[in-house]
Parts: sequence; structure tokens; C-alpha cells
Amino acid sequence: MIIELLSREHRNIERLLAVLEHEQDIFDRADRPDYEVIRAIIAYFEVYTELYHHPQEDRVFAKLKIRDPAAAAKVGDLAREHKKGAERLHRLAKAVDAVLEGREILRQDVDTIIHDFLDHERRHIMMEDRDFFPAALKALQPADWTEIAAALSPHQDPLFSDATETRFDALRAHILQLEQEAEGERH
Ligand SMILES: [Fe+2]
Ligand SMILES: [Fe+2]
Repeated sequence: MIIELLSREHRNIERLLAVLEHEQDIFDRADRPDYEVIRAIIAYFEVYTELYHHPQEDRVFAKLKIRDPAAAAKVGDLAREHKKGAERLHRLAKAVDAVLEGREILRQDVDTIIHDFLDHERRHIMMEDRDFFPAALKALQPADWTEIAAALSPHQDPLFSDATETRFDALRAHILQLEQEAEGERH
């Protein structure tokens, strides 16, 4: 089910955002965050969220516009939000590169760029979960879902599925470690 899959991807993205926020805390304390992990998060957004998650949502949204224009209007300009998200991601990637290359960049600016990215992504996901997905589930016809599914190129999540790529190994280990620590603190 397409919406189920997109929702699951949202939960995974939230795990990544939590990791990024953790690294931001370390950066804000003037310590050295794990840049390998930060870059892997950025790479994941570049290769998976940008190339699969967003285009798939765009296809669902195109159908929603036809089936229920009022509901689509309530969701807003999804394509523009995705474009803004891509721009924020690009800005984040550039800031991290600048830090790693020892170029001059204010810590405060890096912090603001990370914060903007986190904030935008979280609000975007919240809006989609609340407005977009329920409206699509209600309005789209079985034929719409078949058509959307047929338009998809087969792909597997390089971080959260069995088709993992080695470049994400460190990130995966890091996520599990942080989640175990958080779990430990709750007990
Ligand atoms: Fe989206
Ligand atoms: Fe989404």
C-alpha cells in the first residue's frame, strides 16, 4: 500500500532527524559531532527522499487535485514545499562541507541552517500525515493507486530495507545506538 509505505518512510525520516538534532547539540556545545553520520544523513535525503519519496507523493497529489480539489487546496503547494526542502538540504550540505574544509563559516550560521532544515522537515511531515495522506486515502480511486504504482521504478530503501548500502553502515549503527541509549534512559 502506497500510503502505508510513505508513512513508514516518514517514521524513518523522523529517526534520522532525531540523530541530526543530537549531532547539532554536540556541535552547539562546541564539541566535534560525527560528520560521517551527518553526511550520511544528507546523502540519504539526496538519494532516497528526493528521488523516491517526494516524486511518489507528487504523483499521489496530482490525483488528489483531480478527485478532490478542495482537499488538495488545503494541503497547499506540495511541489513548492518539496522544492524548498531540497534547497534547505542543499544549504545544509554546503555548510557541512564548509566546516569540514576548514572554510570560514560562523557556528551560529551552521546552527541556524541545521535548525531550519529540521524544523521544515518536521512540519512538512506533520502536515502530510494530518492533511494530505488521509485526504488521498479518502478521495483516490483504486485505478489511481494502480496507475501510481505502475509509474514507480522499483527501488529499495538503501538505509532501512534489506537492500542496504555499505556507505550507510555507520549511520545505521549510530541510529541503533542512540535509540538504545534513549530506551535505556527511559527505564
Ligand atoms: Fe513531502
Ligand atoms: Fe513525505
